[in-house]
Amino acid sequence: MTQLNGDSVKQVIQTRLLATVVHYWDEVDSTNAALARLLKTGADEGTVVMADTQRAGRGRIGKPWFSPPGVNLHLSVVVKPAIPVTEAHFYTLIGSLAIADALANYDVAAQVKWPNDVLLNDKKIAGVLSELQIAGDRVDSLILGIGVNVNINRSGMNQEYGEAAAGATSLFEALGHPVDRNVLAARVLENLERRHLQFLAHGKEPVVAEWRSRSFLGRRVTIHEGGIDVEGIAVNLDDQGCLVVTLDDGSTAHVRDGEVHPQ
Ligand code: BTN
Repeated sequence: MTQLNGDSVKQVIQTRLLATVVHYWDEVDSTNAALARLLKTGADEGTVVMADTQRAGRGRIGKPWFSPPGVNLHLSVVVKPAIPVTEAHFYTLIGSLAIADALANYDVAAQVKWPNDVLLNDKKIAGVLSELQIAGDRVDSLILGIGVNVNINRSGMNQEYGEAAAGATSLFEALGHPVDRNVLAARVLENLERRHLQFLAHGKEPVVAEWRSRSFLGRRVTIHEGGIDVEGIAVNLDDQGCLVVTLDDGSTAHVRDGEVHPQ
C-alpha cells in the first residue's frame, strides 16, 4: 500500500495558497498540536502537517481520535481568514464539505452531519477538528484538523475503535480496494482552498446552501447537550453556523456545542 508522504502530495496537488509547505512525520502526538507549535514559530497560512499515525489524536468534545498506522489520513492545515470569531464555526462546515467533495472523486456520495462529521451510508467516515487562535474578537489563525478513515478494513475498525466501530466506515469498505492517501490528501486540500477563497469572496451563503443540500436538515434529531437529551426537527443553520432545531414543545434551539444524532 502507498506510503503517506509530503513529497507525493506536492507532486499531485494543484493549489496556490494551501500546502505550499507540507510537513510529514511518521508519528506525532497530534497533527493539530504539531501545527500549533509550528505556528508559534511563525508558520505561514497554508502550512500542512500530515502524519501516518498519532499517539494522541484529538476528536471533538475532548474525545480521542484513534489513528492506527498505515491506513488513514491525518492532516492539519492553517488558514488565516480576516473574520470575526463568531464566523469561525463556518470553517468546520467548510472542512466537512471539502472532505465530501474529495470523496466524490471516488464516486461515493458522502453526507455532512452538523457540525463536523462526514457520513457514508449513515456511518462516520471522517471528522474535522477546528482549533482557533484569536486576537480580540477576530480570528488570528485557524487550524483545521482532518481525519479520514481511508484504507482501514472492518476488522481493523473493530479492533481500533471498540464500540464506535459499529457507527464507523471507511473508503476501503465502500470501494472494496485501497486508495492512495496522498492523492486523497491533495483532493481534500484543493477543495478546502476553493471553499476558503469562496467564503472570503462571497461570505457564508454558498457554504450554507451547499451544506443544506448534503445534510440531514428536515430529519428528526436527538441533541445531547450539558447532560440533557432533547428531540426535535433540524430545520436550518443560523448566521453563526449553529444548528437550528424546532423542539417538540414548539420552541427553537440554536445548538452551538452539543452532539446531534439524526434518528
Ligand atoms: C471528530 O470527528 O471528532 C474530529 C476528528 C478530527 C481528527 C483529526 S486527525 C488530524 C487532526 N489531528 C488531531 O489530533 N485531530 C484531527
